Amino acid sequence: MSVSMPQKRYYRQRAHSNPMADHTFQYPVCPEEMDWSKLYPEYFRPLDGSGSPEKQKAQVEFADIGCGYGGLLVQLSKLFPEQLILGLEIRVKVSDYVQDRIRSLRAAEPGSYQNIACLRSNAMKYLPNFFTKGQLPYLKYTFIVARLTSDYNTVIFIVITTLLILLSKMFFLFPDPHFKKTKHKWRIISPTLLAEYAYTLRVGTDCTFSSNVEPELECCALLGVSKCLERPEKCMWGFGHGEDGRGQRPVMGLVYTNTDVEEVHDWIVKHFSDHPLFSRVSDEELADDIIISHLGTCTEEGKKVQRNGGKNFLAVFRRVEDPQT
Ligand SMILES: C[S@@+](CC[C@H](N)C(=O)[O-])C[C@H]1O[C@@H](n2cnc3c(N)ncnc32)[C@H](O)[C@@H]1O
Repeated sequence: MSVSMPQKRYYRQRAHSNPMADHTFQYPVCPEEMDWSKLYPEYFRPLDGSGSPEKQKAQVEFADIGCGYGGLLVQLSKLFPEQLILGLEIRVKVSDYVQDRIRSLRAAEPGSYQNIACLRSNAMKYLPNFFTKGQLPYLKYTFIVARLTSDYNTVIFIVITTLLILLSKMFFLFPDPHFKKTKHKWRIISPTLLAEYAYTLRVGTDCTFSSNVEPELECCALLGVSKCLERPEKCMWGFGHGEDGRGQRPVMGLVYTNTDVEEVHDWIVKHFSDHPLFSRVSDEELADDIIISHLGTCTEEGKKVQRNGGKNFLAVFRRVEDPQT
């Protein structure tokens, strides 16, 4: 079946939608009542239990807040084919566009783009209706390591089942700046909202996996597990297995922000830095993060900024353990 690519000119809408207003949104009363099968039919079965039971283990892992026309979703779909990625967009026509775009991409390339979806919603109001506390997922991985015994005749298969906490990422790319002081309450970054974002994000835990057996280490590296001997809040899953977890790709409990407006960047940095549940990730730690290079270029707003020779102010924050607990 061919579905033509939607044309943006039919989906234009004025730039700002009041996030405080009562729009008519559909949302579940709690995350358990969310029927994800409509958005990710290849991964979920409907809530009525029909369909394959295999399809019930998935969870949304990345959220693009204010996804606009969906450029980041499309880009991440192939970069992270194993992760489910959700765009949240408040404007009706813009979210319609993204949904039609994904439908068209899926039809053009059967089997692809099944891991991305867009939901029309107000992220400033309804995130906890969709995401559980610390959602972002426990995925159960079982992996088998074959090891030769000392007589070299018998192969021992070691089955290691681990609860592997996978990536959890939130993106705020080119958030609406709302320059006027009276409109600052419309900004999508604020102390109250940061508490909500922290609620949905998973903290780095002191999950360690250590072994001196090379195949096991290789397995771990393949799965993205790394040894981490640092403090829990610094613990990150990454590729490779360095002794101290340094120099590895930070992959969990992260919030990526990018804006072309310096004042908004300062606002973002101030609020995240003041918040006890977040800490800034240094540029050095981000050096190997494959996402970073896409943040200023893959979205429609990013492209506009590029065309106009604008700047990118990027900052990434890690969800850390509550210092009170
Ligand atoms: C300047 S655009 C950036 C869009 C996209 N991230 C990009 O880089 O192209 C900001 C987007 O956030 C959306 N937005 C603003 N407030 C929102 C909210 N409370 N919930 C969901 N989306 C929101 C707007 O409708 C708009 O599409």
